[in-house]
Amino acid sequence: MSNYQLKTDKKDYLDKIIHGDCEKVLLDIPENSIDLIFTSPPYADQRVKTYGGISPDHYVEWFLPKAAQFKRVLKPSGTFILNIKERVVNGERHTYVIDLILKMREQGWLWTEEFIWHKKNSYPGKWPNRFRDNWERLIQFNKEKNFSMYQESVMVPVGDWAKDRLAKLSETDKIRDESRAGSGFGKNVSNWIGRDMVYPTNVLHLATETGNKRHSAAFPSYLPEWFIKLFTKSGDLVLDPFMGSGTTAFSALQLGRHFIGIEINAEYVQIANQRIYGKQIKLPSLGEKKKKYKVPANKKSERKK
Ligand SMILES: C[S@@+](CC[C@H](N)C(=O)[O-])C[C@H]1O[C@@H](n2cnc3c(N)ncnc32)[C@H](O)[C@@H]1O
Repeated sequence: MSNYQLKTDKKDYLDKIIHGDCEKVLLDIPENSIDLIFTSPPYADQRVKTYGGISPDHYVEWFLPKAAQFKRVLKPSGTFILNIKERVVNGERHTYVIDLILKMREQGWLWTEEFIWHKKNSYPGKWPNRFRDNWERLIQFNKEKNFSMYQESVMVPVGDWAKDRLAKLSETDKIRDESRAGSGFGKNVSNWIGRDMVYPTNVLHLATETGNKRHSAAFPSYLPEWFIKLFTKSGDLVLDPFMGSGTTAFSALQLGRHFIGIEINAEYVQIANQRIYGKQIKLPSLGEKKKKYKVPANKKSERKK
């Protein structure tokens, strides 16, 4: 693995889970030092009983100062993947995710792409005016248009469609068929003859099963795994500023990447360490004790009605 110099005058954060508020902890991390930020922050007002909640109306103002730190520590070639989903408030989808994307663009981020995580095995259910929620967003932000991406690492088997589709090629299939929408993209279907592997789409069909029952919002390890493979190479550094039970760190280590995890809840820090290193260890801590999220007094006046 590469030699990262992340020692600050305070602590060495490499391959550790730091106990504290990510907004404060990140102040100790040098700028332009992280290759991938992969995270699932607390969802607005959900799971209040387990780790507090942020009102949907205050979500953007709560998140933006953290996003500013993410932007500072991310390398220009790096990527930030945000796993989030807007909740229903008073019978309609709240707009905080859309508002957040717009504000992050104002902060200087590029909204490069959006992936959908289709939860293959979610439970059936019945609601009076909508269907079962079966997908979440993974929003990709970058600092620069040219970022590191290793597409070959997530190729998938070509699948059965190829047998029929490639057996009967039309004349258009044999030449580059330019997009009718004028996007500049085109396809030449015949290029895929004889290939076993193809590039995936931006929809990930993954089961929700995590095998990790100690955090109420843990994602399955193959979610971070997929993005770590796509956006980093061996020895790179992955940050999860809302670490929870340590899934991102676990995946990063399995794939030979370094990680930094930050988690505000001491109990989750212990759970994550146990999961990653198999034991409880003494952690660097900024002494963050609060579990409830507070909007600074000067921001309350900016509340949406
Ligand atoms: C959705 S959970 C992450 C779950 C994680 N992906 C996993 O697989 O276990 C969000 C986590 O962020 C933590 N958190 C909330 N605010 C934080 C903050 N300001 N700094 C660091 N962690 C925070 C919560 O305690 C919670 O564990």
